[in-house]
Formats: sequence, C-alpha cells, structure tokens
Amino acid sequence: MSKEDIMFKTRVGIIGATGYSGMELLKILSRHSRVELTLVSSRAEKNTKITDYFPFLDKKYDTLLFSDIILEEIKEKCDLVFFATPSGTAKDLAPKLYHLGLKIIDISGDFRLSSIEDYQKWYQYDHPYPDLLNEVLYSLPEINRDMAEGESFISNPGCYPTSILLPLTPILKNISYSQPLIIDAKSGVTGAGKKVNPLYLFSEMNENFLAYKIAGTHQHIPEIEKYLSKWSGQNALINFNPHLLPLDRGILSTIYLPGLSEKEASIGTQSLIQAYKNEKFVKVLEKGLPKIKDVVHTNQCHIGFQYDKRTGCLILVSVIDNLLKGASGQAVQNMNLMLGIDEGEGLC
Ligand SMILES: NC(=O)c1ccc[n+]([C@@H]2O[C@H](COP(=O)([O-])OP(=O)(O)OC[C@H]3O[C@@H](n4cnc5c(N)ncnc54)[C@H](OP(=O)(O)O)[C@@H]3O)[C@@H](O)[C@H]2O)c1
Repeated sequence: MSKEDIMFKTRVGIIGATGYSGMELLKILSRHSRVELTLVSSRAEKNTKITDYFPFLDKKYDTLLFSDIILEEIKEKCDLVFFATPSGTAKDLAPKLYHLGLKIIDISGDFRLSSIEDYQKWYQYDHPYPDLLNEVLYSLPEINRDMAEGESFISNPGCYPTSILLPLTPILKNISYSQPLIIDAKSGVTGAGKKVNPLYLFSEMNENFLAYKIAGTHQHIPEIEKYLSKWSGQNALINFNPHLLPLDRGILSTIYLPGLSEKEASIGTQSLIQAYKNEKFVKVLEKGLPKIKDVVHTNQCHIGFQYDKRTGCLILVSVIDNLLKGASGQAVQNMNLMLGIDEGEGLC
C-alpha cells in the first residue's frame, strides 16, 4: 500500500446524527483511523455544534455543526453516507445520493424487503424504488461478508433479525426443519428510538415488562423469514413475539426448535460452533447461557444453547447490544468491508 493510500480518509456523513444509532455512529467514527466526519444532519438541531449536543466528542469536532439535508451539500462533502433515520426517510433520499455516486449504508428497514407489496403490508408505504430492492446488498458480515467488498449500497440488518439470523442460519443450513420456529425476543427501550411516546416514559417502563406487536404483526418478520430461507435453502416460517425490557439497551432472543431428535440437535449445535469458531464478534458459549450485561457497549453477539430431552426441543439464546451489533457497530463493520479495510477497525 502506498503512503497516499495509507493517508487517504473516506469522507463520511450521518443523516439522523442526533438519534440513538446516530450517536453510536459518531462515537465509533470519531475514533476510526480511516474516515473523516464531514457532515452530520439533524433538522431539529440545525446549526448546533455537535460538541455542545454530545459533549463526550473530542474538541477537534468543535467546528462541525448539525445541518439540514441538502443533497448538493452532501454530495460536495461526503464519499459515503449512513442513514440512521426512521423508516421511510432513506427510501426517497438514499437512491438520489447513490445515483450521484455516493456510497450508502442504510440502518433503517427501507431496503431490506423484496417488493412494493411487502412495503405496503409491513411498513405501510409505497416504495418509490422497487428496482433497487434487488440491487442493494443486505449484509450480515458473519454470513455473507464475501459480497460486501466494493459494494456501493448496503442495507444493514435490523436489531432483532441480527440476534435471530446469527444463531439460526448455521443450524438450518445443516438440518432440515419444516415447523414454524418460535421466537420470544426482548429489547431495551432504545430499540424504539428517541421518539416521544407515553409508553416510554420512565414511570411507565421502570419495573415493568410487556409484550408488543405479537402474533405475526412485527415488521421484522418478513426480513427474518426472507434471509433465513435464502441462506438456509429451506422455507422458514417464524412465530415471532417481541417484548420491551425495562433496560436502556440490549436484546435477548430465546429461540425454540421443537420436534428435533437429540442427534439432529447435536448436528445443529456442532454446525453453530464450527460456523463462528474464528469470528471476532460472534461467540458460541459451550458452557452456560449468555447475558445482556456481557455484550452491552460491545459489537458482540453471544449465543448459548441447550437441548430439552424431555420435550425434544432445541433452545437457543442470543444476546446483542441493539445499538451496536444490532445497528451502528454492524454498520461500521459493513463500511470497513465495503472499503476493503480491516473489518474490526474502530470496533475493538
Ligand atoms: N434504535 C435501535 O436499536 C435500532 C436498531 C437497529 C436499527 N434501527 C433503525 O435505525 C434507524 C434510526 O433509529 P434510531 O433509534 O437511532 O432513531 P431515533 O433515535 O429516533 O433518531 C432518528 C434520527 O433521524 C432524524 N430524523 C427523524 N425523522 C427524519 C426525517 N423525516 N428526515 C431526516 N431525518 C430525520 C432525527 O433528527 P431530526 O428529526 O432532528 O432530523 C434523528 O437524528 C431506524 O430506522 C431504526 O429502525 C434502530
């Protein structure tokens, strides 16, 4: 590598930089050796210094102010843009920037599904760029990292999908399974973003625990079924039921595969151990069960398993930090792959 290559820094922008995922991107990118932060958007905080809003940032960012979203300005200032915006924002803006030659990583759900019909059903909007849905790469590095290098538009997996696809993909690649999988998932409150909603008030959430969007209604269902089916080569059907935990951050997903013999379960869990034995960010625990506290503020996913001989059920438990491996940490992993640099840069 030449000296110029070593010195070269990719100019990066964050659309939606005041949100929870945007904040985590800022933390990671500000210590990343190969990028320069050149644009951060927030409509509500336009013209505020980012160091006034996030005092933990280094003084070297004193001159960077939150800005409005102006395509010409983004094009001038950035080589690569992260969308850390609520669903429905990137679908209009990201394709315009992509067509202007910028690299895109979308953390929202706007490019994860396959068709206009999917978006009408699960996200209740009309997708304006259906052709792009087949072009954008959905990248979960530990599963399909070979495809990310040199890509220009990546759709980053959702938080619950990451906690479910990582444990299930290696298992379903190696055993045949036709029943609906049962998934009971729990997330901390930052999973809902910074929006104002009485449900997320401290007095409502503290000492509380509740289910929401159960019985086939959560928008992550088609994403999980799409990629589990694609990567395992068999039709996956899931019964997915999420819950809200009285924690700031962290996801714990418990996944049940009933109707498996001990031998099938053993083939599945051996595949799981093999699949991640050399991974930096995914650990399969052969003893004990994973805990949210072990992964918060890290880009790791921990997976545990046990076979219930009495009922013939394989049970998997996975934990991630929803804002890191479930969002911004994984997005930076994807950026590193896209740019052909060390996958763990900024993350370890
Ligand atoms: N939170 C998680 O655990 C998590 C995990 C995985 C994926 N995600 C996905 O990541 C995205 C961001 O989530 P978040 O939780 O970080 O959200 P958030 O905390 O609500 O922040 C949203 C950000 O987007 C900006 N924004 C909102 N509406 C906008 C619009 N119409 N146009 C442009 N900017 C807009 C907001 O700033 P202004 O309104 O001031 O512009 C803010 O900076 C979502 O799509 C979410 O599904 C989140």
